[in-house]
Formats: sequence, C-alpha cells, structure tokens
Amino acid sequence: MSSDSLSPEAAALDPERLPRHVAIIMDGNGRWAKKKLLNRVKGHEKGADAVREAVNTCREIGISYLTLYAFSTENWQRPRMEVDALMALLKKFLHTQAEELRANNIRLHTIGETDRLPDDVRQALEHVLSQTRHNDGLHLILALSYGGRSEIIHAVRGIATEVEAGRLSPNTIDETLLSGKLFTCGIPDPDLLIRTSGELRLSNFLLWQLAYAEFHFTPTLWPDFGKEEFVRILADYQQRERRFGQVDSDQAT
Ligand code: IPE
Ligand code: IPE
Ligand code: MG
Repeated sequence: MSSDSLSPEAAALDPERLPRHVAIIMDGNGRWAKKKLLNRVKGHEKGADAVREAVNTCREIGISYLTLYAFSTENWQRPRMEVDALMALLKKFLHTQAEELRANNIRLHTIGETDRLPDDVRQALEHVLSQTRHNDGLHLILALSYGGRSEIIHAVRGIATEVEAGRLSPNTIDETLLSGKLFTCGIPDPDLLIRTSGELRLSNFLLWQLAYAEFHFTPTLWPDFGKEEFVRILADYQQRERRFGQVDSDQAT
C-alpha cells in the first residue's frame, strides 16, 4: 500500500493477506434505476461511475488483478435497446478512461467472445488494449460477452483439435493444460468473488477459475457500491481461513 490518501480502514488492512485477484459480478443496475423511477439505462450509467471507483480502490490498496463481469453471453438476449445502450456505454467508458488507465499504469485485458461485440466497440477496445499493454500496475480484466460454459467448450475444442492432429496425447491433459486454454490464461485464479444486488448465484461467471475462491454476497446494488464497503469486504476476507481441502494448521499434528 503506497498512497497516503488511504482511509484508516484501508490502511489497517494487512498487505500480506490481500487477495491477489478480486472478481466482481456487478449486478443491480436495473433495480437501482427502478427504485428511483428511472430508465434502466440510467442505472448502467451510474454503474460506470462505480466501476471507476472500484478500479481506483484496487489501485490504491495494491490489489494486483481485478476482473469485472460487465456483459454475459446471456445478456445478448436482453431487449435490443438495452444491449445497444450498454455497448454505447462501454465505448464511452473506453474513450473516457483510456488516458486515465495509461496514466495510472493499469493494464487492460478482456475475456469472453469479444468477436461478437459491434465493430466500433471492438476497435475502441483494441486501441486501449494496445495502449496499456506495457503497463505493469493493476491488471483490469473486463469480462465482455463472457460465459463460463462457452469458455470451457472453446478450450476443450482447442485441446481436441490438437489431439486429433496427433500433437497431444490425452493422458497429458491436466489442470495446467486446460487452464492455459481458457480466456484467463496467465491470470491467477480469483481469491475473492463479490456479487452485488443480493442474488446468490454465479450466472455463468468463471466456473472453472472460482473453484477455491472465497465468496461474498452483498445486498448493495452495484451503482451504490463504493470504496468503504469494498474495504470492509477486504477486511472480512482477511479473517477467513482458506484450507484448500486440508486441515487447520494447528490441527496438522
Ligand atoms: C448488471 O445489472 C449489469 C449487467 C448485467 C449488464 P442488471 O442490468 O442485471 O440489473 P438488475 O439485475 O436488472 O437489477
Ligand atoms: C450477471 O448478471 C451478468 C453481469 C453482471 C454482467 P445478470 O443480471 O445477467 O444475471 P442473472 O440474470 O440475474 O442471473
Ligand atoms: Mg442483474
């Protein structure tokens, strides 16, 4: 932790026990708007502000990887008007944030079927990906047109093709090999998953990678999710004991 603008709560976090990778299912934009009698799109707009705040919190505290579930493969089935508005917002986010990401040494990555995104969004994305590719601070991973099942199918197809071509023997297929075929290749598995809006499900997010993550569900709607709550969740994470199927360290005799 380096910044002197840290709140006392953030400064009290143990830098040795921070999650290396936090993944967030940013849910509840529509309900936030409905509560305020606004159009759902207004909720997504406000949600974009919460994205900026979460990114800044991770950067200030010294989290290495932040993955944000921004658009799922299933979200393509929403009304055309909402999908178009989300795509326009994403493009705007990329334009307005490009300089900030660069200046803050943040490297952008994406996971998902990004070839399904409209051309103009893809171009904006490619631009920021290439502009930030030498940055070595926070890794910001946007899950766009992402689905855990489609990711696994994509990986299995790649492996099957190599087996068919005789380049790979089935008994050399192991966890490392499969992990390396996922969109998240090279990115460590999340240590902490947060979902906002009170829903208690994964909605097809990082099915393979979350095998041993700690889960935190909060009723807060995504546009209301701020730094204070994020820091409280990190403090709670630091109290957890991760056993990975083994016994407590004080019972290991
Ligand atoms: C999350 O908010 C944003 C996306 C899925 C793109 P929702 O749009 O799902 O909001 P709710 O769940 O309807 O409140
Ligand atoms: C999950 O939220 C996807 C994102 C947050 C991008 P949804 O709102 O789409 O999930 P369900 O429909 O409640 O499961
Ligand atoms: Mg939702």
